[in-house]
Amino acid sequence: MRSEQLCIEVAAVRCLRLSNIPNAITTCNKAFEHDPRRRYLEDTPDARDETLHDMRTWYRPLIGFQLFAAAVVDRAWCINRGDSIATYGNPTVPLTARQILMARLMTIVAKVLMWLLSISLPAEQNNRLQESEKKMSAAIQNTLGDRTKEMLSLNLLATAPESQGHGYATALVRAVTSEADSHGRCTWLISSNYVNTVFYEGLGFVPVREIILGDENPTWNKAPVVMLLMVREPQIPDLMDEKVALLLNQIA
Ligand SMILES: CC(C)(COP(=O)(O)OP(=O)(O)OC[C@H]1O[C@@H](n2cnc3c(N)ncnc32)[C@H](O)[C@@H]1OP(=O)(O)O)[C@@H](O)C(=O)NCCC(=O)NCCS
Repeated sequence: MRSEQLCIEVAAVRCLRLSNIPNAITTCNKAFEHDPRRRYLEDTPDARDETLHDMRTWYRPLIGFQLFAAAVVDRAWCINRGDSIATYGNPTVPLTARQILMARLMTIVAKVLMWLLSISLPAEQNNRLQESEKKMSAAIQNTLGDRTKEMLSLNLLATAPESQGHGYATALVRAVTSEADSHGRCTWLISSNYVNTVFYEGLGFVPVREIILGDENPTWNKAPVVMLLMVREPQIPDLMDEKVALLLNQIA
């Protein structure tokens, strides 16, 4: 069951609508501009800016696709029409027949997109994309294995730079973790930027594995990119407030 209640309980958090997607793409594009994984994928010696043969050109369509795929199965939240967005997965809740159809269609489109990328990108960008995908899949498989079928995943999180620091991302992550808590489920994510660790830890996530990119790549002369696989155990809602309210009612 997708809890519409969450939209009400967390102020200003709304389901991402298709009409919000253009703004949400701009949000992600700006927010991830200095993201270490994105820099690793894009800053290659064979980068050819402004052409179809360059990762930078593909970024907006890829993000747009991810947002669309999440929105059509009701797995995307936003604030202010996409100034801040979060997409997630919840395999523990069955999809409707329409959503299953859309999800299958999206899987086919994703495969076509990945194939188009593989034939369009220059060799080094393609190598780095494959390295990133392989290392992330291996970390998830080796650390969480089949447990992911019982867990929620936080897939994409971004706030436009000019809207950061207002608690938007916190509210969006809480919308996802509240859903996890209400089903007694864990939530996992891959943080592509080490500096976000404190932010996620404050929301109950703990690092369970490092994923390192560029450590054995002679074409990358900067420090290796460290990403973190993080997991949050479900938490029992604090019932104290409810008990106090009940007591006060009885006294009154
Ligand atoms: C991470 C991000 C989504 C946070 O968005 P936000 O809406 O500004 O987050 P909030 O306002 O809810 O921040 C909550 C708290 O975390 C802190 N925080 C947020 N990002 C932080 C960071 N990178 N490092 C340290 N603290 C951070 C904020 O200062 C705030 O602290 P406070 O409550 O004590 O003031 C945003 O910085 C962003 O879009 N970054 C680029 C994209 C990205 O890295 N996405 C996540 C990929 S894993």
